[in-house]
Amino acid sequence: MAPSIEGKRPEVKSPMNTTCCNREEITPRYRVTVVGSGNWGSVAAKLIASNTVKLPIFHDEVRMWVFEEILPGGEKLSKAINQTNENVKYLPGIKLGKNVIADPDLENAVKEANMLVFVTPHQFVAGICKRLVGKIKPNTEAISLIKGMEVKTEGPCMISKLITDMLGINCCVLMGANIANEIAVEKFSEATIGYKQDKEVAQRWARLFCTPYFLVSVVQDVEGVELCGTLKNVVAIAAGLVDGMNMGNNTKAAIMRIGLREMRALSKLLFPSVRDSTFFESCGVADLITTCLGGRNRKVAEAFAKSGGKRSFDELEAELLGGQKLQGVSTAKEVYEILSHRGWQAIFPLFTTVHEICIGQLPSSAIVEYSEQATNFSIVEGLAQYC
Ligand SMILES: NC(=O)c1ccc[n+]([C@@H]2O[C@H](COP(=O)([O-])OP(=O)(O)OC[C@H]3O[C@@H](n4cnc5c(N)ncnc54)[C@H](O)[C@@H]3O)[C@@H](O)[C@H]2O)c1
Repeated sequence: MAPSIEGKRPEVKSPMNTTCCNREEITPRYRVTVVGSGNWGSVAAKLIASNTVKLPIFHDEVRMWVFEEILPGGEKLSKAINQTNENVKYLPGIKLGKNVIADPDLENAVKEANMLVFVTPHQFVAGICKRLVGKIKPNTEAISLIKGMEVKTEGPCMISKLITDMLGINCCVLMGANIANEIAVEKFSEATIGYKQDKEVAQRWARLFCTPYFLVSVVQDVEGVELCGTLKNVVAIAAGLVDGMNMGNNTKAAIMRIGLREMRALSKLLFPSVRDSTFFESCGVADLITTCLGGRNRKVAEAFAKSGGKRSFDELEAELLGGQKLQGVSTAKEVYEILSHRGWQAIFPLFTTVHEICIGQLPSSAIVEYSEQATNFSIVEGLAQYC
């Protein structure tokens, strides 16, 4: 069992208990568990831990569920994190804060929490939620930092909805121009929280994450925020292909613009409630830019194009990312399934082409060959229309 820390303030039995008379004690104490401990998961734990020690509404301790791995020296990752206060595999050299406790036991990690931060690669979420059914406290709130979606026969299911459906809890999302390693060394950046109805809950999440170098805004558009964070990884693959073929800045900017237009159009076709203004938040254009300039999807796609398509994305992911996961290729496949199911490939040439390049059906150079794709449709003001 993972160790625990002593909170510096008096313990309150129930975080929702408001019957005591001491001002300190009547404040609800929310307990946070971070479900995931990769690169971004570790940085999220660090950000949160720096706030829980300062803000009385939160319990100091932050549990971080670790998918257990054995390090090359034979030591368990969770043990190494607790001994060094660093995630030696996914975020080496950065102290997480002494109040972060790594816990390899998923059920134990969540059992006291009433604020759950989901931050794992998206392909693992359904399995994790299955294990958590019936194991979490009533009235627990969740937030997802996960980019990606699940495609079911009836259509796309965003990760926040998957969490809500499987666990019966409300789930906000946090997305933004957030390359984890830069936030880890406290370089200034911004993020956007999307919520469905309860603004107060969204603002509590913002308090948990906000620091002088990490500014968080809240918007009532959970699908828009989440789709921005998810779809931009497909555009980043396209940007990486362009880099790998040395096509230059004009081409890359064009790819980013076309990609942003497709992101907005697909989001609005899938969820008419999605707001245009969301695309101007950190989760929209800012995240698109940072991911196309510096993210891991761009990096691997660049290597793929440089190899002339001879090396697979799986092989390059393993070689270049040191255990980190690539999201863009699987998201491109998921998007393609949505498009082909609805007959929308022609109006989303960039999304369609990225997937066809990833599976080896087209060469990397096809990323700039749109003119040959005759279509009766076009995207006008974010909506698909007949020409
Ligand atoms: N890293 C970033 O800069 C960044 C920024 C914003 C958002 N995100 C998003 O955050 C999410 C998590 O990414 P990350 O960077 O924290 O992770 P990561 O890619 O760095 O690490 C992969 C994680 O998955 C875990 N894992 C491996 N196999 C598993 C399994 N079978 N079950 C459960 N977990 C398993 C590993 O232990 C590790 O913690 C992703 O959706 C990503 O798109 C990442």
